[in-house]
Amino acid sequence: MRIDIITAIPKLLESPLGHSIIQRAREKRLVEIHIHNLRDYATNRYKSIDDYPFGGGAGMVMSVEPIFKVIGKLTGERKYDEIIYTTPDSERFTQKIANNLSLMMNIIILTGHYKGVDQRVRDHLITMELSIGDYVLSGGELAGAVITDAIVRLLPGVLSDETSALTDSFQDNLLAPPVYTRPANFKGWKVPEVLLSGHAEKIEKWRLEQSWDRTKKIRPDLLKDEE
Ligand code: ADE
Repeated sequence: MRIDIITAIPKLLESPLGHSIIQRAREKRLVEIHIHNLRDYATNRYKSIDDYPFGGGAGMVMSVEPIFKVIGKLTGERKYDEIIYTTPDSERFTQKIANNLSLMMNIIILTGHYKGVDQRVRDHLITMELSIGDYVLSGGELAGAVITDAIVRLLPGVLSDETSALTDSFQDNLLAPPVYTRPANFKGWKVPEVLLSGHAEKIEKWRLEQSWDRTKKIRPDLLKDEE
């Protein structure tokens, strides 16, 4: 899979996508991530990528020209399955969307900044808009990193234990059960007996019960989504 990220602040993405599991996936060439600096596509002599909003109001708006230029260059080189824009005023990003995106060959993620992009970018160039939650970040760069991370860890071969992505929270609309490791007794804080029993069926049943209880208590909305 190939992910092209277009951003005004490349450094905000280079670090989150340059370590640990994602970095190893890149090194193993399980994913290609290319970060493009929008400023390199600025068309005016001041190299600006934003301008004042027509009609007045607070904040700057990302201009259409540099975005048109970089998306045009990329789409001229290969076909993209989705061209995503990160913005809080859009559909909420979920595990289901991450699963779907992980099956694609090539995607572009345009990360928003300032007050947002000129609406004509959204109308004519973008195929999908995603928010990572009902709060406003100072820019969409971290949202782009979050979305990329959630996708890449699902790609075959990225996680060492192939089943571990399947047992994540949200994969079956349930929160993950509690996990423990050694020691079995730490200052009197004991690991549940069943996990030490070696009885696979009982352990599986206990985990499922724990997942249900946790979900019912903390995220009952997930159980409703299931209906
Ligand atoms: N940009 C600012 N806030 C955001 C959010 N919650 N999701 C996606 N992009 C954003």
